[in-house]
Amino acid sequence: MTTKQKVLTLLLAQPKQILSGETLAQQLGLSRTAIWKAIQELKKEGHNIQSKSKQGYLYLPSDVINQVGILKLLDPTVPNLTITILDTIDSTNQHLKKMAIDGAPSHSLLLAKTQENGRGRFGRNYFSGSSEGGIYMSLLLHPNQILADMSHYTIITAVALAEAIEKIQNRPAQIKWVNDIYIDNRKVAGILSEAVTNFETQMIENIIIGIGINFSIPLSTFPSELQDKAGSIFKDTPICDRNTLIASFLNNFYHLLNNTSADYMTSYRDKSLVLGEKVSFIKQQITYKGTAIDITDSGELIVKLDSGKNTYLSSGEISL
Ligand code: BTN
Repeated sequence: MTTKQKVLTLLLAQPKQILSGETLAQQLGLSRTAIWKAIQELKKEGHNIQSKSKQGYLYLPSDVINQVGILKLLDPTVPNLTITILDTIDSTNQHLKKMAIDGAPSHSLLLAKTQENGRGRFGRNYFSGSSEGGIYMSLLLHPNQILADMSHYTIITAVALAEAIEKIQNRPAQIKWVNDIYIDNRKVAGILSEAVTNFETQMIENIIIGIGINFSIPLSTFPSELQDKAGSIFKDTPICDRNTLIASFLNNFYHLLNNTSADYMTSYRDKSLVLGEKVSFIKQQITYKGTAIDITDSGELIVKLDSGKNTYLSSGEISL
């Protein structure tokens, strides 16, 4: 842990309390100058720390994505995460893929405050321009499983994220098949899971689960083509910081992943935005219309076509 992280750990452990430079220095076995320097760095990063003359430092609520803030909220059952936080990067998924090739361990988590080339499904761009209210993160797993098992990671991620969002925002979070998260009919989060398979063994060597969340991005700052479709979890001042949501997602995700009895399919169906709805989709340039009637245990959407025939979709995009 760096000095900065050690100081932050102590400040976060006793919020609302003034801690003197002397106390911090003693507890960490450091000089008061080292403490002062660390405090200056933390302030520069956006932490709201008040320096009270002759008394010490007071940590006030701040929304700065940071390792200490995430780790302190994780359940003990979450495996040891290797967390990297960058200011900006082309795409956290792309960068984590490179890190995986260079030997990054399973459970590596990469977060960036902004992305220059955020990627969405179907090769689309993903708007990731706000350093103030977005969360852009990717999680690396080394699952060693056959390709067919990929869908349950996607489903678990969507359920874990929707449940984490509901915990901090008093509105239902719904999942638009396959894994977009909506609140009040606006997309607030998207997921891009990518698998790297060993050609010979057909085993998945790396899974990269990329998540983009509009935490508190003002609507007016979305590009015009997203103005009617995108939303943020918080339209006004957030009631918690982003670390709380990130940790809550990770707690849910690992709980569902590690508990073979966890019934995530029931939540996935219950939270579905599309079940029972009229939907349309395009397959080989033909538009089909029907009603989404169920989701199979492996995540396929069953659509009863207007012609009366049932069709099973395993991927793609549907319109409502
Ligand atoms: C979608 O809605 O089509 C999926 C969006 C996924 C965006 C996230 S942001 C973090 C990670 N890095 C990327 O480049 N994409 C994913």
